[in-house]
Amino acid sequence: MIRPTKKFRQLYLDTLAGLIDFTQIDYLVVSHTEPDHSGLIKDILQRSPQITLVGTKVAIQFLEDFLHQPFARMVVKNGDRLNLGNGHDLEFVAAPNLHWPDTMLTYDHKTQVLYTCDVFGLHFCDDQLYDENLALINADYQLYYDCLMGPNARSVLAALKRMGDLPPYRTIATGHGPLLHHHISELVGRYRDWSQAQAKAETMVALFYAADYGYGDELAQAIAHGIAKTGVAVDLIDLKATDPQEVIEVVGSASGIVIGMPPQSVANAALSTLLAAVNSKQVVGLFESGGGDDESVYPLRNKFQEIGVREAFAPILIKETPGNAIYQLCDEAGTDLGQWLTRDRTVKQMKALDNELDKALGRLSGGLYIITAEKGGVSSAMLASWVSQASTKPLGLSIAVAKDRAIESFMHVGDRFILNVLEEGNYQPLMRHFLKRFAPGADRFTGIKTYPAANGSPILAEALAYLECEVVSRMECPDHWIVYSTVDAGRVSKAEGLTAVHHRKVGNHY
Ligand SMILES: Cc1cc2nc3c(=O)[nH]c(=O)nc-3n(C[C@H](O)[C@H](O)[C@H](O)COP(=O)(O)O)c2cc1C
Repeated sequence: MIRPTKKFRQLYLDTLAGLIDFTQIDYLVVSHTEPDHSGLIKDILQRSPQITLVGTKVAIQFLEDFLHQPFARMVVKNGDRLNLGNGHDLEFVAAPNLHWPDTMLTYDHKTQVLYTCDVFGLHFCDDQLYDENLALINADYQLYYDCLMGPNARSVLAALKRMGDLPPYRTIATGHGPLLHHHISELVGRYRDWSQAQAKAETMVALFYAADYGYGDELAQAIAHGIAKTGVAVDLIDLKATDPQEVIEVVGSASGIVIGMPPQSVANAALSTLLAAVNSKQVVGLFESGGGDDESVYPLRNKFQEIGVREAFAPILIKETPGNAIYQLCDEAGTDLGQWLTRDRTVKQMKALDNELDKALGRLSGGLYIITAEKGGVSSAMLASWVSQASTKPLGLSIAVAKDRAIESFMHVGDRFILNVLEEGNYQPLMRHFLKRFAPGADRFTGIKTYPAANGSPILAEALAYLECEVVSRMECPDHWIVYSTVDAGRVSKAEGLTAVHHRKVGNHY
């Protein structure tokens, strides 16, 4: 199969041109916007400007940011259909988070083929087009599930439930590996079994919101992202499309509940079911959707207080069109909630280390630094000591950033930041300031003298030196990202100053 990525650009376009006249294409169904499947959409649009791109609301938003040009679009929801004529009636199945936020499946009623993009795929290739030989693909099928689908087991179960409403499918056409035809029920069944086992074992937050209302979708996604950074699963549930029994079941297995206020017209029934199902061991967080007709957060907040449910973050109020600052606040609020739910696990991990090993590892030392970053008008900062030079040509350094740090969102490939070096004998005030527990969305620079670097990030006036960095790559470790960055510029404020050194006693903490 030829993949629509830049690497296979010419091969893909030539093959397509041999099969179809570009001016005759009416629709391009975008199953999801992951670059290995969507990287050549711009090239197709150049040859076929008449095309209508068909995708979920989130996919179309991503495409706007990615294509930077006008295009005809059709936003589709679960159950929507697109009749192409000749019996080819396409039906769409929403499958968010499998393994991209905007994934959807497409069922052709005529051919009974279900196009699933990544779902049910595997990284396997031989001369057979179909799944005749199950033994040959077993291991790769499971590996692919474990890596790409397992982390969103609950979303897999939700998608399987929606797939259950379709007429029988004869073939599953995935975007990776063989087409599934001979063993469909066995292979789909494995997804169900694995996901059920996974979902039972994990800590989960049920995030209720009203889809397609105000900014509910975007705000919910930002909070879900923040929660997921802590390794906690999130089940996103549309309050408008769920029945009371489903609400009761999800709340029953959740450790935390987040609610985006729905419009008043749907609020009563949905919220009273929710309230009846919640118990005092759970934590809760509320946010407005900004739809103009939101149910107020305060009566609901009072009711949760009466039941004795702990509030994970203060209600998020939407007074104007949300910008990056609100989305950052949502992300950080989600992380706070996730950290609260995983606090026992964190303490257990810290205590788990053998005493001698812990002390020996504690002899590894590093300097003391403050990372500062600005992106899209929002800033962040963090104290770091797991920092090391990593290359000379080009000049580069590595930093280990815990997966649930607020600043993690500012350290993706292409992002720029400053590494401020703290000075021996003069680091305490800055260290103390940046180690404070900041509320979600708080300005971390209040009372701190800064000036802007060429890359836009704040330089700390009290730092001994600073380095302007750009993230080039990231390596995933179990609980940290190793962020490798090149260094473009730097300056020392005092020629004789020494870097503050951090001597530790134990290895299981910084
Ligand atoms: C001495 C010291 C060194 C630290 N070094 C790192 C580090 O290298 N990487 C990291 O992710 N966190 C490090 N931390 C933890 C963060 O600085 C701190 O917990 C964080 O600012 C709070 O999380 P938040 O910014 O996500 O709210 C260090 C903490 C201390 C006390």
